Amino acid sequence: MGIELVEHRSAKDVRRILEALPEWFGDVDAIDNYVAAAENDDYGSLLAVAPDGVIGVALTRRHFREAAELHLIAVDPEARGTGVGRLLVERIASRLAVDGCTLLSVHTVGPSFENEPYAQTRAFYRSVGFVPLEERDGLDWPGPTLILVRPLVVQMQQDGSR
Ligand SMILES: CC(C)(COP(=O)(O)OP(=O)(O)OC[C@H]1O[C@@H](n2cnc3c(N)ncnc32)[C@H](O)[C@@H]1OP(=O)(O)O)[C@@H](O)C(=O)NCCC(=O)NCCS
Repeated sequence: MGIELVEHRSAKDVRRILEALPEWFGDVDAIDNYVAAAENDDYGSLLAVAPDGVIGVALTRRHFREAAELHLIAVDPEARGTGVGRLLVERIASRLAVDGCTLLSVHTVGPSFENEPYAQTRAFYRSVGFVPLEERDGLDWPGPTLILVRPLVVQMQQDGSR
């Protein structure tokens, strides 16, 4: 599909993609907070770029040397389900692993709150290697937040390089 992954910031593309996903990002303040994070050097930013523009965004935060958080991941609705999310997660996981990070976490809406869009999100996280750790009320919003984690391992290439 000719997708390039680029470590670059783009608040404009974060806003455009989140505004196109109202079932997940219906809250204007939440979008503003993600856009602010996209401009903040405390967060890593990875973009998936197709020939006609940015189709996926991911923000990460390194809390400790050993632990990082996937703060945001979103794919343009027209490109969802085509492998872009997996590409972003795998690049993030491999870059962090070679830098000595051993655990990647992510927060999302927990299963106790029935919501089909977030059930899809949880299925995505599980299929890219995250396992559920704990569900807690009132963490990121008044309802339940599910914390998932993925252990990170350095993948050796066939030629022995990393
Ligand atoms: C969640 C999201 C980032 C996933 O990116 P994506 O490009 O659509 O996902 P991929 O095509 O890479 O899917 C990877 C795997 O996840 C699983 N998956 C993806 N979407 C799924 C869905 N809707 N239902 C069930 N499983 C799903 C599939 O098993 C897929 O495996 P496959 O590679 O064997 O087909 C994207 O769909 C999105 O932006 N969703 C809306 C916003 C969101 O949920 N953001 C995160 C929480 S705030």
